[in-house]
Amino acid sequence: MKQEVGAVPLSGPYIDEREEELVLEVMRSGRLSLGPNVDRFEELFAAKVGAPYAAAVSSGTAGLHLLCVTAGIGAGDEVITTPYSFAATANCFVYEGGVPVFADIDPRTLNVDPRAVEAAVTSRTKAIVAVDIFGYPCELDALRAIADKHGLALIDDSCEALGAEYKGAPLGSQGPSAVFAFYPNKQMTTGEGGMVTTHSEEEWRLLRSLRNQGRGDEGGWLEHVRLGFNYRIDDIRAAIGIGQLEKLDEIFALRSAVAKRYDELLVDLPGVELPWADDADHKRSWFVYVVALPDNDTRERVIATFERERIGYNRYLPSIHLQPYMRERYGFSEGMCPVSEDASARTLALPFFTALERDAQERVAEVLGSVVA
Ligand SMILES: Cc1ncc(COP(=O)(O)O)c(C=O)c1O
Repeated sequence: MKQEVGAVPLSGPYIDEREEELVLEVMRSGRLSLGPNVDRFEELFAAKVGAPYAAAVSSGTAGLHLLCVTAGIGAGDEVITTPYSFAATANCFVYEGGVPVFADIDPRTLNVDPRAVEAAVTSRTKAIVAVDIFGYPCELDALRAIADKHGLALIDDSCEALGAEYKGAPLGSQGPSAVFAFYPNKQMTTGEGGMVTTHSEEEWRLLRSLRNQGRGDEGGWLEHVRLGFNYRIDDIRAAIGIGQLEKLDEIFALRSAVAKRYDELLVDLPGVELPWADDADHKRSWFVYVVALPDNDTRERVIATFERERIGYNRYLPSIHLQPYMRERYGFSEGMCPVSEDASARTLALPFFTALERDAQERVAEVLGSVVA
């Protein structure tokens, strides 16, 4: 990866000659889309996460949107979700006229608190969109129990969590349909891209039709049996995905090692809270390394110093309900989800990617330490 000398970027992909070779093969084959690589990518991915079916799509957002369609979310349906996530988590059902109902988060895991979800259920609730934020698995059993009790759809936004495990089994193998994303800052990338896993053959067939302009299994190119989208991934990107899957275990191991080094370098820094640790039921897949600082002022002082030192960062994550379009559209304001809002004011993503080297991490720790000491 080309980078400015002395600078530490926030993230970066982990690709090499293997992906180049696979992409070249596709380009030379003449089948750039709707070719064999997409099916192959889906099969390999499904096997990797232990899901019976996987449907590749053009982005994580597209995958989430399609699951909102298959869940039958329509105008005026309430959908309960977490405020502490990327905007697409809520946008996916807003596209269908769903109304966001934000349930506050657990301050430790930063995932939605099932008690807040239960308290938010009304007669208009249609679905729950849960998120495995920063790769830490959400409380799937508790959420599934709420969904079953009230007859709701449960969608797992695992866009940040490929490789994470809940109660000893990978996300994707768990039952609720899940979505994974492949933007270049993710564990694996296809440039842009996403994957939906499902345990229902019927849903899988529907997803493949919906992503392909509503075409049916039978019938011709110009026959559309339902309202569909162009959410296809092409064979070039599927080829990159296949190359990434070949090295995914290596990627996971390297990312875990990078996270462990940060743990060791940062553990004694005053006022720096480290990411919530794994336990018997939750195994994180490292997507980003996000610390919490004592307050927003400290975070902004760290950011000013990082800028001077050319160290990458991001204010992961603003609360979705306080985004300008959400305030305007629904009248949401501060105080709705205090735990999420507090986290949003204090959390900071440090440079984190598969090939991040120890000396760069030492520099990040030193600069961070110089501000908080
Ligand atoms: C939690 C979460 N949901 C959804 C998405 C959307 O994925 P994509 O950018 O592939 O559309 C992302 C990706 O950034 C994400 O982090």
